[in-house]
Amino acid sequence: MSNSTNKRPVILTGDRTTGPLHLGHYVGSLKNRVTLQHTHEQFLLLADIQALTDNAHDPEKVRRNVLEVAFDYLAVGIDPALTTICVQSALPALAELTMLYMNFVTVARLERNPTIKTEIQLRGFERDVPAGFLCYPVAQAADVTAFKATIVPVGEDQAPLIEQTNEIVRRLNRQIGRDLLPEAHAMIPTVGRLPGIDGKAKMSKSQGNAILLSASPDEIRDAVRQMYTDPHHIRASDPGTVEGNVVFTYLDAFDDDPANIEDLKTRYRRGGLGDMPVKGQLEDVLQSLLAPIRDRRAQYAEDPGYVMNLLREGTVRARERTQATLEEVRAGLGLFSL
Ligand code: TRP
Repeated sequence: MSNSTNKRPVILTGDRTTGPLHLGHYVGSLKNRVTLQHTHEQFLLLADIQALTDNAHDPEKVRRNVLEVAFDYLAVGIDPALTTICVQSALPALAELTMLYMNFVTVARLERNPTIKTEIQLRGFERDVPAGFLCYPVAQAADVTAFKATIVPVGEDQAPLIEQTNEIVRRLNRQIGRDLLPEAHAMIPTVGRLPGIDGKAKMSKSQGNAILLSASPDEIRDAVRQMYTDPHHIRASDPGTVEGNVVFTYLDAFDDDPANIEDLKTRYRRGGLGDMPVKGQLEDVLQSLLAPIRDRRAQYAEDPGYVMNLLREGTVRARERTQATLEEVRAGLGLFSL
């Protein structure tokens, strides 16, 4: 790798491999990653080990989705010549760093982590929280620091994990006596989180309110037809509300003709514009956004051997990088190297 590449700020981000990615991932993160790969040294982690922390009952799903998520990355324009895509479970340095970092965080601190608290509730673990799940923020700290990443593009809900990472970094650096590990900054997208098609705050495949990047033209059409609008806007002539109306939220996120959106909003608010024409406009926008993504994805999916090979090459590069950091941390803590 050339020197100029090495001086670029390092980005690490990842996705749990629990299902194919959707439009929420696209606006929240994937689109940025495609841009950032030109100016940063970028690593994408297929987080299959983290996926197991709440899917240990279904490892086959976790395994299968390693390739599915990789297809999604490539389909949206992640270029393997610019971005290193790697598989978490094939990077043993991450597990070893996790074990070491575990001693620089308290159980009480993990239990107070807002992301973990919410996720424990969502998953209904109650008192039966897998230890691996409670500790996944430590593993995520290992992910980020093993690459010495300073920028982590993640959704707002992940910000407490970056804070927790930096606490571990500061403690470890203090213990070692020098700034071995850099602190990381969360890069939170300025566009708000994309709601589900049902109007719920979060788009999620398990909630059944997502539009997948691999959605067929019929699935896109059906999703737009079902989309939550203004329940009081019954007849076209009624004045309608734009705020919280998913169709307009999506137009704001995906239609790059703001003047046209403003015009539609004005007419909708005033009354005289029905849901159907607005939905028609959104459907056109989404169909033309997703058609090339779906086509590219299908091409990669036809050649899984080629994609596996990309993952193998990326993982080899990532293994070197993460192993080097592990050696430094081990030496810093004075562990024997025999
Ligand atoms: N926690 C992230 C998610 O649920 C996935 C992830 C794993 C990640 N390791 C990471 C994100 C490191 C950023 C950095 O989507």
